[in-house]
Amino acid sequence: MDLLDIITIPDKTLRKTSEPIERFDDDLQRFLDQMLATMYDAPGIGLAAVQVGVPRRLITIDVAAKESEEDEEREPTRDPIFLINPEIVWRSDEVSTYEEGCLSIPEYYAEVERPAKVRFRYLDREGNQHEREAEGLLATVVQHEVDHLDGKLFIDHISKLKRDMVIKKFTKASKQGTKPAL
Ligand code: NI
Repeated sequence: MDLLDIITIPDKTLRKTSEPIERFDDDLQRFLDQMLATMYDAPGIGLAAVQVGVPRRLITIDVAAKESEEDEEREPTRDPIFLINPEIVWRSDEVSTYEEGCLSIPEYYAEVERPAKVRFRYLDREGNQHEREAEGLLATVVQHEVDHLDGKLFIDHISKLKRDMVIKKFTKASKQGTKPAL
């Protein structure tokens, strides 16, 4: 399967608001499979369509491998989730902090505080509606990816000083065709 190219900051497409999906056809199925393969190849645990330059409300997530990595007793597993037109309908007051990264900001990590639990509504790849609650890593990933659909990045949740530094380094590196010195 052809993998998709992941765009990185400062590409302006990442700041676009993604449009909802209305048609559940073969092209959509194929694209979701390509997104998932691209995410696994990266490797990453979440990918929004806008990160491959397609500003539509589509997300792939798989935290199973990451969670099994933390528990040595468990075999690495795959448990992909496809979120189409997702909406976070409830956020807990309780917060949790994770060190986040993003395939569009490669090799940069920072601690981000977000609601510890969320409830979200979405359509699956067949167009059926679901509502589910998440906590822990999955809650963080869902919030991170839904942010992408609204043109938001995890660095928008850190201090302006740190954010400006990261953007500056990636901008300089992209002009020079080099890797950012993080
Ligand atoms: Ni991301």
